[in-house]
Amino acid sequence: MKLEFDDGELTGIAADALAIPVFSDTEPDVVGALVAPLRDAGELKGKAGELTLLHSPNGFAARRLLLIGCGDDWSTEASFAFGGQAVRAAESRGYGQLALALEGDARSAVAGAVAGGFGLEQYRLKSDDNALETLVVCGPLDGAKAGFVVGECTNLARELACLPANELGPEEFAARAVADGPAHGLMVSVMGETELREMGAGALCSVADGSARPPQLVRLDWSPEGASKEPHLWLVGKGITFDTGGISIKPSKNLQKMKYDMSGAACMYGAITAIARLGVELRVTGLLTLAENMPSGTATRPGDIVRAMNGKHIEVDNTDAEGRLVLADALCYAVAEGATHIIDSATLTGAVTYALGSTRAAVMTNDDVLAGRVIAAGDVAGERYWQLPMDAEYGKLMKGELADLKNVSGTPEAGTITAAKFLEEFVDGTPWVHLDIAGTAWDNKGKPHRPKGPTGITVRTLVQLAETWASEAS
Ligand code: BES
Ligand code: MN
Ligand code: ZN
Repeated sequence: MKLEFDDGELTGIAADALAIPVFSDTEPDVVGALVAPLRDAGELKGKAGELTLLHSPNGFAARRLLLIGCGDDWSTEASFAFGGQAVRAAESRGYGQLALALEGDARSAVAGAVAGGFGLEQYRLKSDDNALETLVVCGPLDGAKAGFVVGECTNLARELACLPANELGPEEFAARAVADGPAHGLMVSVMGETELREMGAGALCSVADGSARPPQLVRLDWSPEGASKEPHLWLVGKGITFDTGGISIKPSKNLQKMKYDMSGAACMYGAITAIARLGVELRVTGLLTLAENMPSGTATRPGDIVRAMNGKHIEVDNTDAEGRLVLADALCYAVAEGATHIIDSATLTGAVTYALGSTRAAVMTNDDVLAGRVIAAGDVAGERYWQLPMDAEYGKLMKGELADLKNVSGTPEAGTITAAKFLEEFVDGTPWVHLDIAGTAWDNKGKPHRPKGPTGITVRTLVQLAETWASEAS
């Protein structure tokens, strides 16, 4: 998809289709005369996701108008959805050029448009992908190029989440980062199993024990010259390339979906790639903690006791609570390497879907200032979060019988919070935010602006957070 700009009159834009936002009780003046009879007939209400297609519109050079309902106002979420729906509508009809009439905030509309073009076609003999050739941005151009990068990096995260586990294991994921990171200015290093064992990363290694594929810890450093040494933000992602549950095996229903259990790592990889491509002047390190959770004769057994990098011992009562184990060592590593702030993202608990559904991701923290940054960045970027409490009582449930900790509380109560309290044991007081994206990383139904599948949640938020922080620091 090629990006072009046109700051001429909307009526003069020649394209296969021109997409124009219409709202609950208003529309751009230029389509007022065309829209009025549709509103009178009750056929156009401007509701979010509503699509009206007009051929050979009177007074327009474009061959078609796509009138897209955007609800009450032009929020970042609405403009992202506008861009996405416009591209999906255009591609499904085989149009080559699409122009977007923007009111403001070209960034999120263009990001949405690029995200709207997402689809994985490499496994079909005959692709039905009608990729758009040209996207023409009409209106305020600020942010359009950044939006393009953010859209591409959101799609990068989504592509990785979609890839089947036979194609993307820990080593393949790491190889991808090694191959692609440097071109964007990222320094990439990979710690393999031998090194991890020497480092004492017994929790991470225990998860991979049942798999023929070794664990990997991938570090991506972005150290722009203009940025000061501190803050040094670390973005840690859970990367279970497939989660069978291990010996505490999961039921087979929908098990195929567990290829997306590396969405946290995919999103952190997408976010740091965007941060580097945009040249954001903040020191950021990405850390992908990668393993495959399989049952076998060499797998970790329930009741086994493992030792994490910070010396804490953990009773593995349930091998399906593996995300917190791979994160435990990653968090220890980030702390040991001098992180001043840590954000982790993980498809960590099924419980979060009961708490917040697929609408908001959960935020848990030991530092309300850092959590505030995440939530505020989400508001700007158009991604929604909700903070859960972290009272000490929840942590008591994670005390081990024989060891310092156990990896499950033994009760289904507050499962998302008890998981976070477990993670908190490994950050040694460093300001830290944990994002549980198990309910939001995969859309089971689809929306007008995106098909069902991976959402790329947190990429836009974390890029925005880094940009805002960099602008304060300078
Ligand atoms: N990857 C799962 C969490 C998950 C579940 C994500 C459903 C998406 C949909 C995680 O590793 C897991 O299995 N968590 C367990 C924890 C439990 C054993 C305490 C869960 O949520 O059931
Ligand atoms: Mn699991
Ligand atoms: Zn998992």
